[in-house]
Amino acid sequence: MQTLDSTSMVIVGAGHCGGRAAQALRSTGWAGSIHLVGDEPHHPYERPPLSKELLTGSKTAEACALLTTDAMADLHITRHVARVTGIDAAARSIRLSDGQVLGYQSLLLATGGKVRTLTIPGGDLPEVLTLRGLGDAAALATRLAPGQRLLVVGGGFIGLEVAASARKLGCEVTVVEGAPRLMGRAVPEPVAELALALHRNQGVRVLLGASPERIERTADGVRMTLSDGSFIDADTVLTGIGIAPDLALAQSAGLAVARGVLVNAQLQTSQPGIFAAGDLVEFPSVLSGQPLRQETWHNAETQAAVAAQNMLGGDAAYASLPWFWSDQYDHQLQVMGEPALAASSATRALDDGGMLIFYLDTAHRLVGACGWGQSSRIAKELKLARTLVERRVTAAPDVLVDPATKLKALLSHAA
Ligand code: APR
Repeated sequence: MQTLDSTSMVIVGAGHCGGRAAQALRSTGWAGSIHLVGDEPHHPYERPPLSKELLTGSKTAEACALLTTDAMADLHITRHVARVTGIDAAARSIRLSDGQVLGYQSLLLATGGKVRTLTIPGGDLPEVLTLRGLGDAAALATRLAPGQRLLVVGGGFIGLEVAASARKLGCEVTVVEGAPRLMGRAVPEPVAELALALHRNQGVRVLLGASPERIERTADGVRMTLSDGSFIDADTVLTGIGIAPDLALAQSAGLAVARGVLVNAQLQTSQPGIFAAGDLVEFPSVLSGQPLRQETWHNAETQAAVAAQNMLGGDAAYASLPWFWSDQYDHQLQVMGEPALAASSATRALDDGGMLIFYLDTAHRLVGACGWGQSSRIAKELKLARTLVERRVTAAPDVLVDPATKLKALLSHAA
């Protein structure tokens, strides 16, 4: 079966980024055909509720939809539930697992990442779950009930958000983190400390620097043994040990890759007509020019729009700063900009026991911020902090630290 239409826009990956790109192609004025290819059985949906509202039952799978069946039809998006098995960059075509060949004028790769799985003995038992898609969330939700013992491996975003949801549902929760601290990939240490205290306060047993060695079945569940010989009994194990982009398809098409598919500021790969966006890519940081990979809702959302514009012949440069949030219990965490680029930091205590840390370069220009506190109380402060970082405001550390300095007043210090 062949559909060789070289005037098509083709998107591989029907997740958040792919779905938004399809929408953006239409809103940018593309009237030709759009093919959206992905191996998940669902239309594009948003992932943040999967570890929270979907588990606690305050949101349905339908409510997570980014594009409903009706919206897909209205936008005339042709959906293929299939895997892409090859890209022929010279012929400008892709091959699908169902045998179809689709020609393209522009191609967008938005295939995201795959969850890493535990490679220890017993890591493949049916009681050991991962959480990435709607199906995973549904499977986990059926196992979370009062008194159920949940063992979470990985104290990153997925692990901690699930831990908080499971506590709300009355489960007994243990978190086993390999590193000496929580959320080491993207969250500054002082904020990770506050999150640790909150989880312990909420009755979660958190083990840091712990190394899972094996999992075995017991009469009433499973037992995980750690490298120090200690063990934890549980009904369910949820692993949240990160994701990794699947680079095989891009590599086989001859695209340049490093930790992700390499793209320039226009989100173009090293092959003409092929763009890539979302969790999959390494793109130049607008602050440092250095390659950056982001696994966030914001990245998927904003890169989709730029990629769509450029697929249609535009020359838009991606200039958005990194931003992500995590909701745990009644608290919210946000990180904006790139704290890793800072020469110094300034910490402001918030009146609810939370904190806001500003990150400055050598010229005292803001390059990032990180905030943590009760969601209902810090929303305004976090929004202002984000605007300050986005506008690259310059401010002295003692001014930022001083609670008497209104953040709003600093907006006029924009570069
Ligand atoms: N044992 C214990 N802990 C481990 C192990 C292991 N074998 N391997 C990794 N870890 C820990 C890491 O030290 C890290 O703290 O697991 C954590 C993984 O955290 P993240 O990298 O944040 O990944 P995860 O929480 O799985 O989130 C995956 O979903 O919400 C999104 O933005 C998030 O894109 C990310 C994705």
